[in-house]
Amino acid sequence: MNRDQALAGFATHWSGTPRVFRAPGRINVIGEHTDYCGGLVMPAAIDRWCWVAAAANGTGRLRLAAHDLGQTVDLDLESLSPRGDWSDYVAGVAKVLLEEGIEVPGADLWISSEVPIGAGVSSSAALEVASLQALLALAGQTADPMQTALWAQAAENRFVGMPCGIMDQFASANGLQGSALILDCRSLEMTPAALPEDAVFLLVNSMAPHVLADGEYRARRADCEAAVETLGVDSLRNVVDLDAALSRLQGGPALRCLHVVSENARVLAAAEAMAAGDLVTLGDLMTQSHASLRDNMEVSVPLVDQLAEIARQTPGVFGARMMGGGFGGSVIALVDRARAAEAQAAIVEDYGKVLGRVPDAFVCRAVAGAGEVIA
Ligand code: GLA
Repeated sequence: MNRDQALAGFATHWSGTPRVFRAPGRINVIGEHTDYCGGLVMPAAIDRWCWVAAAANGTGRLRLAAHDLGQTVDLDLESLSPRGDWSDYVAGVAKVLLEEGIEVPGADLWISSEVPIGAGVSSSAALEVASLQALLALAGQTADPMQTALWAQAAENRFVGMPCGIMDQFASANGLQGSALILDCRSLEMTPAALPEDAVFLLVNSMAPHVLADGEYRARRADCEAAVETLGVDSLRNVVDLDAALSRLQGGPALRCLHVVSENARVLAAAEAMAAGDLVTLGDLMTQSHASLRDNMEVSVPLVDQLAEIARQTPGVFGARMMGGGFGGSVIALVDRARAAEAQAAIVEDYGKVLGRVPDAFVCRAVAGAGEVIA
């Protein structure tokens, strides 16, 4: 997709001269199920974009055309309420902006996305961030990337009803070319981490059906909150003595606490390994992260475990783990750049036999975050 195609797409539905925005999907190198615990994450924005072309329409209505789905939706800006479909991500950001006192005008939006849906690469955050930037621009305003991310997260939490953390919207809004971003979700302090030159991040979609993902995510978050309550801390980030904490917890809350505290430590260790160009250690940390997500956070599924195992055993792979919220989605593998093509082909073939069809796979490039596409 490029700007001209977005302009042409808009013109097939609406009149007027739109402005064009795009927001990327994301990978996460390490730091999973930590963001809503005030923990550490290491995502990167990737070269798969959600495109939004938007123009004010002089009415009180928000008219949306989803190119890929062949659907249009017409909403009254004064009575936005969730419909339970993709339009909620756009209506949600409009509603949050209105609640912030921003005069969102009636607008026509044409939307098309290259961010694969259900692959755990944040297609919904990309749609939220691109729409938010578009609506804000039509209202004659701008916001810095962190504010953009916080408003987009608020839309997902309050309007869509998904109690996600800040990682996905943060990565889409703040991406940096060639770098991952270490975010401290307690302070919102961000540190760039240059990606290794000798390796690539390969994403393979498990194509496992996302079953009960939202409900299970909510349940894991509730376990973390139960642990926080028992321990009398502000968040699991503030657990200093893990053994002492574990002696006071049981069952789900104990396991989640073990995951979050150990995963935060792995993010710090991964940052050091990355800075030192130590790919073996970085890969090992990713593999350990997978084991903890499987055994302690309990968010993996058998197909994803099999895919991660296949990836790990493939020559040229330093480590692999499930990525994102879990219960399906993709595995991210750290692969020797010189062997990336053969490793990808081998993983696709071996896992394809398990799956019974060919899984989607691609090597990611880290890109700058969302913005207007001027020319
Ligand atoms: C989903 C959520 C994020 C984060 C991850 C797990 O992607 O949207 O906020 O919690 O799961 O790390």
